[in-house]
Amino acid sequence: MSVHTSDSEFWLFGYGSLIWKPPPHFDRRIPGYVTGYVRRFWQSSQDHRGTPEAPGRVVTLIERSFWETLDDHHTSESDKVWGTAYRIQADKVAEVREYLDIREINGYTIHYTPFFPSDGSDHISTLVYIGTPDNDQFMGPQDPQKLAEHIYRSVGPSGPNMDYLLSLEVALGGLSSESGDEHIKDLANRVRMIERADSDKSHTTDQAIDHKLKRIGSTDEQEETEK
Ligand code: BEZ
Repeated sequence: MSVHTSDSEFWLFGYGSLIWKPPPHFDRRIPGYVTGYVRRFWQSSQDHRGTPEAPGRVVTLIERSFWETLDDHHTSESDKVWGTAYRIQADKVAEVREYLDIREINGYTIHYTPFFPSDGSDHISTLVYIGTPDNDQFMGPQDPQKLAEHIYRSVGPSGPNMDYLLSLEVALGGLSSESGDEHIKDLANRVRMIERADSDKSHTTDQAIDHKLKRIGSTDEQEETEK
């Protein structure tokens, strides 16, 4: 089924948590992509996936022409940033915009960009929140391993930063066979490796404590028999 829209409709493009946490009062939801941007975990989060004392990291969109001037560790072969467009019920637009402004403040500003539905229908004008390079929370390029470690450690009122990353990876995988994002996949793989190493370490520590307790127990026993 192709997507028919009219100019009076309000459409919102989600490329981060909106993909798996939809806004209220939407009556249509379609997968697709925008072009001319690169998605990166370069926005600091003090209100959702971190705190003012220990900010986490969330995604923003970087204009591709600007991104090309930067020294990034990850490449970006595709010009498409995949996500979800939501049409908001006409009588709820003001309410939803207020909700989104509250939910998404922290450096993001409102922009409009054409969205291309995955079924090849005509593009739709969508509103999108972007943390541009001039906002205080914009971090710019970061070493992927350090970034993954940072995400692994961070927690905020909306939950662990790591859950945001892994949920985004899963949500992107569900949009289309070509909607994977190398930057997201690489960070998710790194975070899983850090988690595994951490759990191996605590397993080893548990075993060491167990071993020590057994030794203490056996020494007590020996002392008991030797007396
Ligand atoms: C989103 O697409 O989930 C989103 C990203 C940044 C700000 C607001 C929404």
